[in-house]
Amino acid sequence: MLRHFTLYLFLLFTLIACGGGSDGTSSTDTTTVEPITVTPFVWQLPTGFPTPKIPADNPISNAKVDLGRYLFYDRRLSINETISCASCHEQNKAFTDGKKTNVGALGEAHPRNSMSLTNVAYNSAFNWANPLLTTLHQQALVPMFAEFPVELGWSDKEGEILARLQEDALYKSKFVAAFPEETEPFTTGNVAKAIASFVSTLISGNSPYDKQIYQNQTTALSDAAKRGMELFFSERLECFHCHGGFNFTQSTNHTQSVFVELEFHNNGLYNIGGTGAYPENGRGLWELTFKAEDMGRFRAPTLRNIELTAPYMHDGSIASLNEVIDHYARGGRKIETGEYAGDGALNPYRSELLVGFVLSNSEREDLISYLKSLTDWTFICDTRFSDPFGNVARNSQCP
Ligand code: HEC
Ligand code: HEC
Repeated sequence: MLRHFTLYLFLLFTLIACGGGSDGTSSTDTTTVEPITVTPFVWQLPTGFPTPKIPADNPISNAKVDLGRYLFYDRRLSINETISCASCHEQNKAFTDGKKTNVGALGEAHPRNSMSLTNVAYNSAFNWANPLLTTLHQQALVPMFAEFPVELGWSDKEGEILARLQEDALYKSKFVAAFPEETEPFTTGNVAKAIASFVSTLISGNSPYDKQIYQNQTTALSDAAKRGMELFFSERLECFHCHGGFNFTQSTNHTQSVFVELEFHNNGLYNIGGTGAYPENGRGLWELTFKAEDMGRFRAPTLRNIELTAPYMHDGSIASLNEVIDHYARGGRKIETGEYAGDGALNPYRSELLVGFVLSNSEREDLISYLKSLTDWTFICDTRFSDPFGNVARNSQCP
């Protein structure tokens, strides 16, 4: 598995000594220099995790990951140099931003909650409800070029932004190293590809839950978390049906996948006026298909590091894990008054897996302990994922 390609560079120094000798011939001296080893990219995967599937048109390399990390944190990537990818995806918060919804470079509000980038390399499609976005470099082009609202603001400004990067000596060498076969490596596509390579390395699998289940550390989970795990995986609560597998989502694709899983569900957040409708700009799969049954259908995101990614849901409309449990216990959310009034539990398009249940207070605490056992501090503190420019403060809990 660990393939090592060693690139031998033979530098030939041909020393042509003009013969001053009596015989009048020239002598040629050939020197071989030590080989330079280019280390290929090697996945450092948590125990029990499959190898991500990397698209053939963007093979991963150490140089691309390195370049992508700089670009991800570089505010010069936005038109007015105010924000970077990391503005909405902070490592401290498992690459979310703690806001209900955020704004782009020009202050325009995004209608959706910033998603966690935990283990995105395993997703079969990206964003809250877009089955068409199936590679991370296509995904990166979305925030770069989005116009409604503007996120980074690349539309019509590609030349200007690329020129900025090209002027920087740091990037001159990093683009050449990342795209060694290309004579003009400073392209929009390459920016997206390098960022995608970096983002695909954001892998988290060292939480107390992982230590207990995959690493055989039998006391990693507290008794409360163990009881909560039973609840999570029970038919009574049904959480695992939609948040299943090693990554707590159904929409998974990797090198050992037998088929690509991609599911969308309406989990009963809205039912405006009893019609089943969700608010404008938050209608899920319906926004692409216009089919009634796709109203409010979203991808169930991973629950890894969920403790750190509040507020929750596609529009950040649930503030805490406690309220998430209220929502599921009721089988849907009831909004009493205002323009979104309606009972989500009665939404005609709601998934039948939203069963509703009654939990005792101690069971509720157990379930929350379990969800918190999915927090992976190694990931939050991993310096390979941190800001290479050193502008972003590290989490105070990091060593
Ligand atoms: C203004 C805030 C903002 C900025 C800037 C931003 N994002 Fe996002 N990101 C979001 C939001 C909101 C979503 C969900 C979008 C949706 O569903 O429509 C998202 C979704 C994603 C996803 C999908 C995750 C998943 O599980 O499907 C990835 C990957 C991602 N962003 C990477 C990036 C990268 C790379 C950049 C920089 C090129 C970036 N983002 C810039 C807010 C932002
Ligand atoms: C029918 C499938 C389904 C079931 C069952 C289900 N979920 Fe979800 N879950 C989803 C979907 C879909 C979303 C995103 C919905 C949205 O944003 O509109 C979600 C979102 C969440 C979120 C917010 C994630 C984030 O990043 O904002 C949490 C937390 C969560 N679910 C926990 C649970 C728990 C705990 C249970 C069991 C009590 C459960 N879910 C049962 C499908 C499901």
